[in-house]
Amino acid sequence: MDLSREEERLLESDNPTIAKCMEILVALGEIFGADRLIPIKSAHISGISYKNIGEEGLEWLKNLNAKVRVRTTLNPAGMDLERWNEMGLDEGFARKQIEVLKALESIGAELTLTCTPYYIHRPSFGDHLAWAESSAVVYANSVIGARTNRESGISALASAIIGKTPRYGLHIKENRVPAVLVKVKGDLNPSMVGYKLGNEIDGIPIFKFDRKLSDDELKQLGASLASTGNVAMFHVVDQTPEWRDFEIPREKIEVDKAEVEDDCEPDLIALGCPHLSANEIIEIAKIVEKYGKPKKRVWLFTSRHVYENLDNLIKRLEGKGIKVFRDTCMVVSPATERFECVMVNSGKALTYLPKLRKVKAVFGSTNECLRRAFE
Ligand code: F3S
Repeated sequence: MDLSREEERLLESDNPTIAKCMEILVALGEIFGADRLIPIKSAHISGISYKNIGEEGLEWLKNLNAKVRVRTTLNPAGMDLERWNEMGLDEGFARKQIEVLKALESIGAELTLTCTPYYIHRPSFGDHLAWAESSAVVYANSVIGARTNRESGISALASAIIGKTPRYGLHIKENRVPAVLVKVKGDLNPSMVGYKLGNEIDGIPIFKFDRKLSDDELKQLGASLASTGNVAMFHVVDQTPEWRDFEIPREKIEVDKAEVEDDCEPDLIALGCPHLSANEIIEIAKIVEKYGKPKKRVWLFTSRHVYENLDNLIKRLEGKGIKVFRDTCMVVSPATERFECVMVNSGKALTYLPKLRKVKAVFGSTNECLRRAFE
């Protein structure tokens, strides 16, 4: 990989943080055949729950001696920063989580604590980014037309500090070409379609749906695809910004069914994977209007940013007995471990709850989840 004089200097820097970050980017670039480093507009760091990072990770973060060079946002942490005890978490965990966040804040990262950073600062078409968090990566590439590979928490952090990323993969237009056409027949739940297809698809899919998907449905589709497979980008005919730039591939899959069987009775209904948008919260509020108090626990997850813009509506939901948490989610927080079975409207949560939180999970549409909670 070609490095400029300035980049060579950073690689040999006396500051071990800078030298290490450069080493990480150069190693990545060499593995993936990058020709050079390119400047990025923003970085997004995942894996910051104390549950995930542990004591070793925390010590490493505390020893970082550099500031980020570009806007850097953070994925959800392990708890709502203010209401962690309502989530059933103990003070020891809360203290450690705060230490992780302070370390990240001291290098200049914004405490956004959301997997939907694009609701706060929306990148522009064509921007190069270094984002971790597979659901945000797939949304940025597919729905916005920005360019990012699926970074790890560490490589996103290295890019944040250097302000650059190796140029390979989805940063290059020719690598964004669709490999397979997926025709979706009938009105299937997009999250389930993504869940079912993620591990069947090799390369970038281009979807053809019978109807136009909402922005939230595109978000759900991508998150699920990326959770069961390695997908980091998709196109949708007539919808996403780059679908016209390529020929429709010959290889074709037809999907007319996307269901999973229920095998447990939920004791928690958890919505907000990826974090709920304002529209999704408005939609949920409309649905629950017709019900009394829920018979099962209902937890919603969103970003602080969306929460603060919907203060009154959220008070109404809380008045009904629904908890709306910020800064965290049902998958990264250990709070869900005390439940037996969690019902979700997200293929991504359905994939990761059993793997990471060791709880059973069942799937339903938003309507079905809320019906199960209230009836
Ligand atoms: Fe976001 Fe947590 Fe789902 S980070 S995409 S809500 S697993």
